[in-house]
Amino acid sequence: MSFDIKTHIRAIHDYPKPGIVFRDITPLLADGVAFQQTIMQLAERYRPLQLTRVVGIEARGFIFGTALAYALGVGFVPLRKPGKLPGSTLEQRYQLEYGEDALQMHDDALTADDRVIIIDDLLATGGTVLAAVDLVRQTQAELLECAFVISLTDLPGPSRLQRAKIPYYTLCEF
Ligand code: PRP
Ligand code: HPA
Repeated sequence: MSFDIKTHIRAIHDYPKPGIVFRDITPLLADGVAFQQTIMQLAERYRPLQLTRVVGIEARGFIFGTALAYALGVGFVPLRKPGKLPGSTLEQRYQLEYGEDALQMHDDALTADDRVIIIDDLLATGGTVLAAVDLVRQTQAELLECAFVISLTDLPGPSRLQRAKIPYYTLCEF
């Protein structure tokens, strides 16, 4: 059954700043059938790939990542903002428009036996997911691709991933 995911994503103008059109996933999450279709579409793609873990980016990547991991019957690895994980961590810093942020992962979360994807809700400048890729690459795990619900094609993320030869999959584009 075909389902048009874009009809469940709301545009909010001038958030968080004037001139920005924010793509809001909360209507998609609020609709049980649409949310289930979203996860089923991702699960159909990834079920044949024999993943061992889904790696999700805080915070909205956790929503789709945990549901997908559950659907596939595999584990979930959270990439968190600094200071949130209790154990020993690996860290990757990245640039924001103003300043810097970082993602952390428990240093024993992935091993050479793992086959993973990284998932987030949205690809914009690509800074967040490129940091996530570098973090996973600090381990010996095999990274198959990055997955997004939304890619913003007028921002640099899609071309940065292509230039870096990082395969990615997106459920829709704006
Ligand atoms: C948003 C979004 C992605 C990231 C994409 O997260 O959920 O993680 O930005 O932007 P980029 O491609 O320009 O890096 P945000 O940092 O707002 O955090 P949140 O998920 O905790 O709200
Ligand atoms: N929507 C949600 N998150 C975002 C966006 C957006 O349009 N741009 C950067 N992060």
